[in-house]
Amino acid sequence: MNEERQVVVIARVLLPAGRDRLAERYELREGGLDATRDDLLEMAPGADALVPDSSVPVDSEVLDACGDGLRVVANFAVGYDNVDLDACRERGVPVTNTPDVLTEATAELAMALTFAAARQMSDAERDLRAGRWGGWDPAAYRGIEIRGSTVGVIGMGRIGERYARLAHGLGAEVVYTSRSPNPEAERELGAKPLELSELLEAADVVSLHAPSTPETRGLIGGPEVELIGPQGVLVNTSRGPLVDSDAVAAALESGALGAAGLDVYENEPQVSPRLLEAPRCVLLPHIGSATVPSRDGMANAVADNVIAVLEGGEPPNRVA
Ligand code: DGY
Repeated sequence: MNEERQVVVIARVLLPAGRDRLAERYELREGGLDATRDDLLEMAPGADALVPDSSVPVDSEVLDACGDGLRVVANFAVGYDNVDLDACRERGVPVTNTPDVLTEATAELAMALTFAAARQMSDAERDLRAGRWGGWDPAAYRGIEIRGSTVGVIGMGRIGERYARLAHGLGAEVVYTSRSPNPEAERELGAKPLELSELLEAADVVSLHAPSTPETRGLIGGPEVELIGPQGVLVNTSRGPLVDSDAVAAALESGALGAAGLDVYENEPQVSPRLLEAPRCVLLPHIGSATVPSRDGMANAVADNVIAVLEGGEPPNRVA
């Protein structure tokens, strides 16, 4: 008997840890890393499940192209600002994400960026590679130490809390602002809740761990960067739209901001040319979750979510 297989559309790529489990059960259509929106619209008709990643906008047009048979949008990311949740709800299509498995990787990368920015590692390495190192200079590249500093965490969810624990372990005071209070972090780390402006003034390091929502877009612009100050360090591993890149670049140029470590940008993969030239700035290409266990865990979570829905069950990581 020739039984028709359900169709899973992978907008770009899914790593083998999840892909192979889906391939055993379903027909896969895969766009590849360079797939365009038009490619997706072409692959979409007849999809039972859609697997986008954070760079793939999923809106009414994409959902309509998939058709009435679409049963789940399983995002290959913990953030899901690329998915129009209302459009999914209107069509009764559940949306899932990949929490937990990337918490450690992302918090560690945020801490790595904290060190790298606080110690001006990009400038120092660039100078060395360009032959500009003239020998040991006691006044060059002087930064701050995390021990004894105040670290401000914006968004005390899973990743923010893990980052706060790392900072606390290094001997920093932790202050935070978050949509919901985190009594555990307050009790165990002595983390102090503050209003955003108080946090920006109090903290030596400000690290962003909030999702991109209409409320958080543009959260850190010119005035906020000035509050962080000439000795302060800004770290962003959450989503680009939270930070105005040009305002950060301007503040680094003028000395109004001490240093920045950024992994995400407003219009990825474009990066503000001004930021590329700015001093005391470490820039990474959205690699927060880029460890083997984390990315495999994410791919596996996508497969768990797709299989659960297509087998008639409840997905483990439903967000809408
Ligand atoms: C996530 O999972 O949200 C990461 O930022 C990768 O997109």
